[in-house]
Amino acid sequence: MTLLGIVLAAGKGTRFKSETPKVIHKLLGKPMLFYPYNALLSLNPEKVAIIVGHKAELVKEELKNYPKVEFFLQENPKGGTGDAVKKALPLMEKCPQSAVVILNGDSPLITAETLKKAYEKFLKEKLDGLILTTYLEDPTGYGRIVRDKKGNVVRIVEEKDATEEEKKIKEVNGGFYIFKTEPLLEALKELKPSEITGEVYLTDVVEIFANRNLRVDTYIAPKEELLGVNDRVQFAEVEKILLRRKIENLQKEGVTVRLPETVYIEWDVSVGRDTQIEPHVSLKGETKIGENAFIGQGSIIENSQIGDEVKVLPYSYISDSVVERGAVVGPFARIRNGSLLKKSSEIGNFVEVKKSTVGKNTKAKHLTYIGDATIGENTNIGAGTVFANYDGVNKYQTFVGNNVFIGSNSLIIAPRKLEDWSFIAGGSVVNKDVPSKALAISRAPLKILESKNPLLEKKKI
Ligand code: UD1
Ligand code: CA
Repeated sequence: MTLLGIVLAAGKGTRFKSETPKVIHKLLGKPMLFYPYNALLSLNPEKVAIIVGHKAELVKEELKNYPKVEFFLQENPKGGTGDAVKKALPLMEKCPQSAVVILNGDSPLITAETLKKAYEKFLKEKLDGLILTTYLEDPTGYGRIVRDKKGNVVRIVEEKDATEEEKKIKEVNGGFYIFKTEPLLEALKELKPSEITGEVYLTDVVEIFANRNLRVDTYIAPKEELLGVNDRVQFAEVEKILLRRKIENLQKEGVTVRLPETVYIEWDVSVGRDTQIEPHVSLKGETKIGENAFIGQGSIIENSQIGDEVKVLPYSYISDSVVERGAVVGPFARIRNGSLLKKSSEIGNFVEVKKSTVGKNTKAKHLTYIGDATIGENTNIGAGTVFANYDGVNKYQTFVGNNVFIGSNSLIIAPRKLEDWSFIAGGSVVNKDVPSKALAISRAPLKILESKNPLLEKKKI
């Protein structure tokens, strides 16, 4: 059967108290809406209608490169979930013989596996409607599933409209539904706004189906998957669960994660086998880590590629950069803005590398700033070296060849070129290019004089 998807994402999210639409707040680096959408894709729908309303442009911008998406605008984002689904009528009317899967955009824990099982039940039992439900000890905030004496579903009642008796029902509506399109189109026409809230509820479709003796049943989903995000407390709970799933996936692939409850790994991050991730690490954005690497405690890696066998020692911060196989970074190093650390290079304590390439086996192990530089192989950069790349107006490049030795506490004033095998004596201010094999030294001669320190006199030393 042809399948259509609808994700509801027009609501204002009042309880979330945000200027940004709730459904695009980021969970593990992806907009909340991505998760139900992604689960839906596993059913291979023809199209996924996303109903946008509140700050629609922002929502569209977030999802603009997602396949199969078609946006529909709900002008009144307080119209209710029924009103929202009606916005996708043009899509549904094109294929009335299909089925529609409708998901709440604010319920990101639904899995592909559960959706698939629910859809199988829908097909196998030739149902007209299927609601994903679960039983909650505390059902507050959810629509309740009302059944007749025989146990058949007769309607869903919203919390705000429920009687005291109905509020005691523990079976709740998860906000995920599968309907046959044709009867859904009919039922949508009959929806009326709630007398209490003025909203048009999608959930009223269930009563209409039941009254027409259409076959409506439930699929009981794992509790966790139906958690909706209405406020920021639930937002944090949901992110914790997504994170646990992400880390478990990595563990199953052969990644060691120590004290996983302290580690933060975003959804798009990949990590190779036998890599070890220490406590309090954050891996963000489109980060890719190879095999057999070590990511030391407290390190942060963002939108970067880390090769096999790389060691990132504790408390290092790497962003938008590439670190090749076998390199060592840190402890306490900062690598940023499109830097490339080539094979087996070493960047040590309190070294910052910005928009620079560091060649194979080159080392800068202590207290150094490397900015806008290209450095060759087997070069040594002594402690305290600074590449002065900025004159207050413009930034300039420095080129350092292979096998160069830069002594400690040197200042390299860009634009500058230090050729292969050149040698910079410690403490030099390098304001001229240095030819191959040359020695550059700028040093005021040290004088040893008789001291006039008055303390010596006073203390009779
Ligand atoms: C909804 C269900 C409730 C269910 C709960 C599960 C209805 C009437 N109620 O309640 O039975 O237990 O989800 O989490 O459907 N939205 C729109 N347009 C609107 C209103 C909402 O697109 O006019 C979107 C929201 O952006 C959100 C989703 O629909 O993604 C659910 O809306 P929300 O207001 O959070 O519904 P709940 O009160 O949680
Ligand atoms: Ca909700």
